[in-house]
Amino acid sequence: MQARRLFANRNAILYIVFSAAASLFLLALVQRKGHLSGISASTIAETLTGTPHAVTEQEHGYELLTHVPNSTDVGVNDPYEGYKWHSESRLRLLTACLARGDCHPNQVSIAIFSTFHCQWGYYDGYHGGEGVWCVGMMRALERQGFTVLHGGDNNWKYMYHLHRQFGDMIKVIISEPGEEQRHGTFDMYKKRPDFPLGIPAWKYFNFQYYPTGWSTVVGRAWVVCAEPRISGHWNVTVQDDGIAWVSTGAQEFHAYTDPESSDFTYLGYDMNPDPEEIHIVPWEERPYRVYIMAKYAHYFHNGDQMVYDTDFYQRAYDELKDEFPGFEFVAGIVDQRSEEDKQKWGPMPPPVVHNLGKLNATEFDAEFSKARLMLGMGAPTLSPSPYRSLAYAVPFANPHKLRDGGTNENDRSWSFVQHDSLERVPEPYVYQVQAFNYTSFVDTIRKAMVAPIEPCRFERMRHSVTGRRLSDFVNHDWKGEAAKMLELRKEGKDKQGGPSGDFEL
Ligand SMILES: *[C@@H]1O[C@H](CO)[C@@H](O)[C@H](O)[C@H]1NC(C)=O
Ligand SMILES: *[C@@H]1O[C@H](CO)[C@@H](O)[C@H](O)[C@H]1NC(C)=O
Ligand SMILES: *[C@@H]1O[C@H](CO)[C@@H](O)[C@H](O)[C@H]1NC(C)=O
Ligand SMILES: *[C@@H]1O[C@H](CO)[C@@H](O)[C@H](O)[C@H]1NC(C)=O
Repeated sequence: MQARRLFANRNAILYIVFSAAASLFLLALVQRKGHLSGISASTIAETLTGTPHAVTEQEHGYELLTHVPNSTDVGVNDPYEGYKWHSESRLRLLTACLARGDCHPNQVSIAIFSTFHCQWGYYDGYHGGEGVWCVGMMRALERQGFTVLHGGDNNWKYMYHLHRQFGDMIKVIISEPGEEQRHGTFDMYKKRPDFPLGIPAWKYFNFQYYPTGWSTVVGRAWVVCAEPRISGHWNVTVQDDGIAWVSTGAQEFHAYTDPESSDFTYLGYDMNPDPEEIHIVPWEERPYRVYIMAKYAHYFHNGDQMVYDTDFYQRAYDELKDEFPGFEFVAGIVDQRSEEDKQKWGPMPPPVVHNLGKLNATEFDAEFSKARLMLGMGAPTLSPSPYRSLAYAVPFANPHKLRDGGTNENDRSWSFVQHDSLERVPEPYVYQVQAFNYTSFVDTIRKAMVAPIEPCRFERMRHSVTGRRLSDFVNHDWKGEAAKMLELRKEGKDKQGGPSGDFEL
């Protein structure tokens, strides 16, 4: 029904009628169906092309116009333009289903992703947190039929071009500051009294992996994050599928827009791979291995994120090697430090750590999944790797620092924690390790060596739960929320939007 209504949208019609591309497959469809919106097929066919084509040619044309390119052929090095090919093929698919009247109900809702992290993750296989997050969101939306377009690295000029054509269908734009010099800024294309055709500010969501930082001109809820705020209630239940499912109470979509409770919007990503796609190494086949979660040598002395004295590894090895025959610290580390740091800190990882060097994703999985503990090093914070580790039934050691007068028992008194959304997951799944406390360090390892766990996953990262959260996000009445905020702002009751705080609906 929604598809029919939108078909009446002037822009959509103009697009169909004037796009030479669209006309080819429209012809094919019309011929197959006989009638389209009451117009005779032959009339359209003659108007558009003169004489009808053979079906095979039409099918070939349809395939040519709607296939989505092989992403490895596009690449981020394709002067940053290849993403338009992706977007345009998606729009032609949308036009085709509108013409046939068989769009998926979500297909007429468009989400645009435009950040270099998304580009890098989608086209160049970047597996860092932002890459995993962005690709996860795009997949979750595509799985549910939404039209997902790519706007390159913050290419507001291109997004404006899209918005002029498909305005009402574009529900959300997720972007982060990037290539401003080439493609302009959001402010240049924002709807203003003197620029009524601009993009409304309430459609723009700032891509911010961490739940920290600033607000958009509309409000804090317009900043979207990969991780939730931790909440009070935690359950871990081992279900019939043999998986320990963690529920955290922050699973549903929620827009926190009220001035009193305003907060960032948690979108998150879903857990890949699926349980049936991974091989869990049986506990008794695992050596007494601690896998150190670090790709780079400087994580061993990373400023404020440094959490262990550099001699802890040798001390722990000396203490544990007889108790646990074959005990080993293993890591896959590249040393890119300056000569100065190498002089100051010595070889990293410390010689007692067996360094496998740079590992690809397959090798990383094979090596850490044989461990009995994944040891967090303070950095990177809020990374996807602890989730991966838990999914492979390898527990995670999560380091934290205390504030003055703080205690290990009260996580509200911690000044730093590597992964704060794991700080309430109980042992033996996640161990909370106190920074620079050797006893805490060695005791954690000792406990973990003999405490097998089930594979552990998070309810909030299930495909179905992530899918629903993202779908609710795209379909949410953001314009309505923004209208309420504008009212409150006029009354002086809301100050989220910064000094000017001014925008057009
Ligand atoms: C995509 O392109 C790459 C590089 O050209 C090629 O190796 C790969 O097989 C292609 N994949 C598909 C599905 O065509
Ligand atoms: C945890 O389990 C209890 C009892 O089954 C339930 O009442 C509660 O809602 C659960 N909490 C969360 C956050 O799932
Ligand atoms: C990772 O490296 C191994 C060789 O150690 C190779 O066989 C495998 O194909 C590589 N995997 C990927 C995804 O590059
Ligand atoms: C170090 O950790 C141990 C074990 O968790 C704890 O009992 C002890 O109080 C900690 N020491 C300090 C100084 O906090």
